This record gives sequence, structure tokens and C-alpha cells, in this order.
Amino acid sequence: MNQGGESATSRLREEHQLILQVADGMQALLADAAEESWDFDAFGDCITFIRLFADACHHGKEEDLLFPTLEKAGMSRQQGPIAVMLEEHRIGRQYVRFMSEALEPARAGDTEARARLANSARGYVELIRAHIMKEDNVLFNMADHVVRGSNCDSLCVAYGAVCGRRFEGHSKDELAALAERITRRPGGD
Ligand SMILES: [Fe+2]
Repeated sequence: MNQGGESATSRLREEHQLILQVADGMQALLADAAEESWDFDAFGDCITFIRLFADACHHGKEEDLLFPTLEKAGMSRQQGPIAVMLEEHRIGRQYVRFMSEALEPARAGDTEARARLANSARGYVELIRAHIMKEDNVLFNMADHVVRGSNCDSLCVAYGAVCGRRFEGHSKDELAALAERITRRPGGD
């Protein structure tokens, strides 16, 4: 915890909640798609949100800031929780790349592309839910124990700098608004 009451992981835990809301929105999209009611624009919004918010903004802070801080405190990058989290980030990127490649052919009516889009989206939802549960309950608890005082202060300042960036022209607030649009889609739940 730092003077502002922020722990080494509180901002990341908050972002997890938004990512989980989008995962719920994706599940609703998939349920509609299973009944042949496809909302390709909303799938496109999910891809944008995952690439720019979940990956660039959120996983970026974990990989470039939190994990190196934990390594300095003696945790291994090659094995254990950090290695598992990095591998899951890699698999998530693969799922979103598959979704992105399938989107336009799927919109044009290609049934195989539709199956690839749905399978990759489903894979991502399952992966990210389990991944966040592990981070929130295991790695982040370890991090809150290990990263304290001035280390916690500088980490939180660095998080703030990343959150102030633009991601392919989008601010973090605009990406949060995109998440709202996905979760409040008409007929979305
Ligand atoms: Fe995370």
C-alpha cells in the first residue's frame, strides 16, 4: 500500500473487472451467434478492446512494470506464476489474432470463418476468466506482500504514465466507453 492507499495491484485488479465485463458481453454475443444472430460490429469492438485495453494497456503494465518489479524481488520469470501468466498472455494474443483474421470473411458469410471466430472468442473468454482468477488470487496477493513502500509508490506512478498514453489513438477512457458499449449492447443480456 502507498500513501494514496494504492497497492501494487489495485489498479490492475480494477482493470480486471472491466475485462471480465467484456468477457460476459462476449459470451452474450456468442449465445446470439449460436442462434445465427451475428453482431459483427460488436465482435469488432471486442477485438479492439482486447488488443488495446486488455493487452496493450493492461498486460503491458503487468509485463513491463509489475513482473520486472517482482523479478527484482527474487521471483523467477522462467518458472512459477510469472511464467504461467506470460504464457497465457501469449495464448490470448493468438486467440485475438485468430478472431481478427476471421472477422471480415465471417461478415461476408464464410461459415468456416464464422466457426473460427466463435471458437476463438469462446477460447479467449475461458482463458481470460481463469487467468484473471489466478492473478487476483495468487500472483497479485504475492505481489501485494512483496512490493511495498517506495517500490509501490514508483510502480503506481509508472502505471499512471501508461494509463495516460493513447493506444492507436484511443485514450483509456475511450476504451472503457467501448467496453460499456459491448456490455450494454441492445439484446446483449
Ligand atoms: Fe491481468
